[in-house]
Amino acid sequence: MKARPAFARSKPASARRRPASTLDARKIKTPAFVIEESLLRHNLGILKWVQRETGATVLHALKAWATWPLFPIVKKYLDGTEVSSLNEARLGREEFGQEVHIYAPAYKLEEFDAVLKNCSHIIFNSFSEWRKSKNKVQKSKKKISVGLRINPEITTNEKHDVWNPCAPDSRLGTRVGEFEREIKRTPKALEGIDGLHFHIFFERDLRDLRSALPRIEKHFGRYFKKMKWVNFGGGQRITDDGYDVEGLIKTINDFKKKYGVEVHLEPGAAIVWHAGTLVASVLDIIERVNVPYKVAILDISFEAHLADFILSPELELRVRGTGLKGQYKYAYKFGGSTCLAGDAIDRVYTFRKPLQVGDKIIFEDAIHYTLVKTTMFNGVQHPSIVLWKNKRPKILRTFTYADFKARMG
Ligand SMILES: Cc1ncc(COP(=O)(O)O)c(C=O)c1O
Repeated sequence: MKARPAFARSKPASARRRPASTLDARKIKTPAFVIEESLLRHNLGILKWVQRETGATVLHALKAWATWPLFPIVKKYLDGTEVSSLNEARLGREEFGQEVHIYAPAYKLEEFDAVLKNCSHIIFNSFSEWRKSKNKVQKSKKKISVGLRINPEITTNEKHDVWNPCAPDSRLGTRVGEFEREIKRTPKALEGIDGLHFHIFFERDLRDLRSALPRIEKHFGRYFKKMKWVNFGGGQRITDDGYDVEGLIKTINDFKKKYGVEVHLEPGAAIVWHAGTLVASVLDIIERVNVPYKVAILDISFEAHLADFILSPELELRVRGTGLKGQYKYAYKFGGSTCLAGDAIDRVYTFRKPLQVGDKIIFEDAIHYTLVKTTMFNGVQHPSIVLWKNKRPKILRTFTYADFKARMG
């Protein structure tokens, strides 16, 4: 047996212990999304470890976080990007390079030549989508690896179907019955398809992947054997504390051996998990009559900067240094600075000391699926994007009136 390189035998230091945040919010001009380089590198180190131990292709899913000025760091660890649109594909090719794997529920015919130009792998949502573009792919001078997204109809108890790719009414991926019907009608339906892709999780652990795999294999195992690669999608909390990374390595290696395929992973949130914050300032404190908490108005907007927490109130939005309701003496709810009634977080946070106007509030873990989804609703100031490195802020981007105006006409 071929000897494994020395780095593969032990866990990299970065995979062992998450460094503590060194952020000093007093040095941050708010509002600002702040990414801490040492924490980002910690996550990337874990993903690199998985890649080295398994040979899996690990892609950066740009939909979760696409701060391209930091791609020079990310691409030292990962193999390329997973993109969802032509714009993301261009960004992936121009700023990240390496492999660009695209998946979208449907492609526009008039954009497809540009998709071919920018991507190395194209994943189709259905057999009809594949048939629509097959000719172009096969005539392309560039070698494209083609995949089909399958929907194994496995739900992992999402409370909210908006996060559940296999929800009963989901349009994402080819379901078991549809797949079988196609193979029956057209026995050569898989000709030209190199890989199968599934993305079925939202912030799940290895035990969910382990329990899903045999159910997926039951329907698709015999087709995996005909493929060059199988893409396990994202949605795994690979870089979170307590995730069984060694278990994931074993699961991938067993799968590869069983089916003789390459495995692709496309984590999004896991890249910036616990690696960044949204820092805001208190603008005003409203003292209500007969209400057991005060309302702190901040220089951010929950609607414009943290929309998922309004859409899905069960998602936990943590604030550094606070306790639960009743834990500390001083209780507050936070509100945003737009005029939308719902621009607030319906949760009481408690503090050891009373808040003052000008105090900094640090929303934890506020990078994935926030920065990519912001708007300038109400003309609200867009938070700047800051890298925290060597205990100092480095401003990557600030937003001005010109940015607001340019979006409006
Ligand atoms: C197809 C696909 N791949 C990868 C991801 C990344 O998932 P996550 O950020 O949960 O790891 C998503 C997220 O929606 C996705 O739809």
